[in-house]
Amino acid sequence: MTDMLVRLYDLPDAAGWYRAVAATGVTLRRARAFETHTVAAFAREHFSAKWVSEVEVALSRQPVACFIATRDRLILGFACFDVTQRGFFGPTGVAEGARGQGLGKALLFKSLEALRELGYAYAIIGGVGPKEFYAQACGATEIPGSDPGIYGDILP
Ligand SMILES: CC(C)(COP(=O)(O)OP(=O)(O)OC[C@H]1O[C@@H](n2cnc3c(N)ncnc32)[C@H](O)[C@@H]1OP(=O)(O)O)[C@@H](O)C(=O)NCCC(=O)NCCS
Repeated sequence: MTDMLVRLYDLPDAAGWYRAVAATGVTLRRARAFETHTVAAFAREHFSAKWVSEVEVALSRQPVACFIATRDRLILGFACFDVTQRGFFGPTGVAEGARGQGLGKALLFKSLEALRELGYAYAIIGGVGPKEFYAQACGATEIPGSDPGIYGDILP
């Protein structure tokens, strides 16, 4: 569970990826406070209780620190940022049936752009699972000595 570093001052233009996602009928937007229960239920059903905790923190902030992908009023994926620790990206997840359609990458870039807007020069992907996804999508590199990082003593 290593952390990865992303150079926010060097992000590629994501407009084309957003257009491609929009063309499939998917909306990318910030979640709204009154949708907290829906996003939390999605995180619980598809992922974990720990991610529910982080989603709830993300949606308690203004502006909300969580982007979602929706189609036909259903949530397909989410991405939080600046929640686990300052400057961290995550957690993020796309429903299994909606993977491989560019949603994960689009949610990642929405969040990275938001972190850049907040004034960060670098983002940290905390406790990475799919390293190749982040390396390929945004040029993320592993941070030496970051395993287990902040995840060494986790309550159940
Ligand atoms: C990781 C995750 C969010 C990716 O979502 P997704 O919508 O399937 O990703 P995308 O369709 O946007 O993929 C973008 C690119 O990354 C690649 N990619 C996707 N998942 C990958 C993985 N696990 N490993 C390597 N490459 C991956 C895709 O092939 C695609 O490549 P392309 O641009 O050359 O076509 C999704 O697989 C997921 O929810 N996984 C479980 C939860 C998880 O691990 N979250 C991350 C915790 S750090």
